[in-house]
Amino acid sequence: MKLFRSWFLAQIPAHALVFIGVQPINLNQVKVPGEDLEKIEAELRLSVETSDPVLSEVATHLIEAGGKRIRPILALAAARAVGEDSTIEVVRGASAVELVHLASLYHDDVMDEANERRGVVSVNARWGNLIAVVSGDFLLARAAGIAARLGSEIAELLADTLAEMCEGQIAEVKDGFNTSRSKEEYLRAISGKTASLMATSARIGALAAKGERGRVQALTEIGNNFGMLFQIRDDVLDIAASREELRKLPGQDLLEGVYNLPVIMALESKEVGGELRAILDEKVTEESLPLATKLIIKSKSIDGCYHIAEDYYQKTREIAVDLADPYSMSIAELCKELLGSIAEFTSAESSDRD
Ligand code: IPE
Ligand code: IPE
Ligand code: MG
Ligand code: MG
Repeated sequence: MKLFRSWFLAQIPAHALVFIGVQPINLNQVKVPGEDLEKIEAELRLSVETSDPVLSEVATHLIEAGGKRIRPILALAAARAVGEDSTIEVVRGASAVELVHLASLYHDDVMDEANERRGVVSVNARWGNLIAVVSGDFLLARAAGIAARLGSEIAELLADTLAEMCEGQIAEVKDGFNTSRSKEEYLRAISGKTASLMATSARIGALAAKGERGRVQALTEIGNNFGMLFQIRDDVLDIAASREELRKLPGQDLLEGVYNLPVIMALESKEVGGELRAILDEKVTEESLPLATKLIIKSKSIDGCYHIAEDYYQKTREIAVDLADPYSMSIAELCKELLGSIAEFTSAESSDRD
């Protein structure tokens, strides 16, 4: 399996791969041309220009560090799915959603006290919380300016999405260290903090491309399902992947008291639920983390996460098949790939891992 993966990766040019943890995801399969992505990069840099040298350095810090640009890619793909090339409106809409995402990362890293982001030191760790929060606000302001110039529908949509993201983040914080957090509460939180912006990314791309209403709505749903699957994968990897695979320390969510789907489902397990709850009630420490992780894996809750994620993939696929254009289909293919990386950690597959 590993040998095959190494061989497979060697066949793909390096620039086509973006590493999102365990498996590199071939975003090139979402067939937006390279020149569209170059336009996004130029627009992003232009949009954060300011005469203040400190703000300028802070605002470009994570843009220059890279990132997968999944949200702009969704926007560009959705625009093409409704039959439009990347007009300046589409490029600006795609940049606005990346700016909102960037701002949410600046703020999230303050909330999570994270030291690293996109392989570089996080803004809060380098410049402090105050600068990180205000610079995040600056990015939001620039996104709002772009959206306003694209028209009131897009401006309102982005504002509503930002409110949903805040609601999702607050729901997560409110449920911190709560061992009774339900699956529904978890799904509501990730729908707000992650899927809402993915849905809006696709919607803004389709709207800026003046797509027909039915297609705009279908693409919004594709973005939403993609976002749910994306966050579930992220949360599974935090528990199940190794430090080398993740390129950061696993178990961070557990240590911070963010009990995500694999934990919630493991707590329901007859076999390990009681023992796990006892560890969580004491709050997980560096010492108890290995045992907590072992119990979660033993509960086979990752299998349950896989089935829930699979539903989001199936929904994406059904909509894409209905839309029947290559761009929607390629987003469904990307979902399948994300699902595949969850599958690696299910009980059926994990014995294949060495
Ligand atoms: C990170 O998003 C936050 C989550 C929703 C898990 P991405 O994984 O898209 O981050 P970048 O943009 O590639 O850095
Ligand atoms: C990322 O959330 C921030 C948003 C989705 C708004 P997480 O805290 O779950 O993700 P990472 O692991 O820091 O990227
Ligand atoms: Mg975080
Ligand atoms: Mg967080």
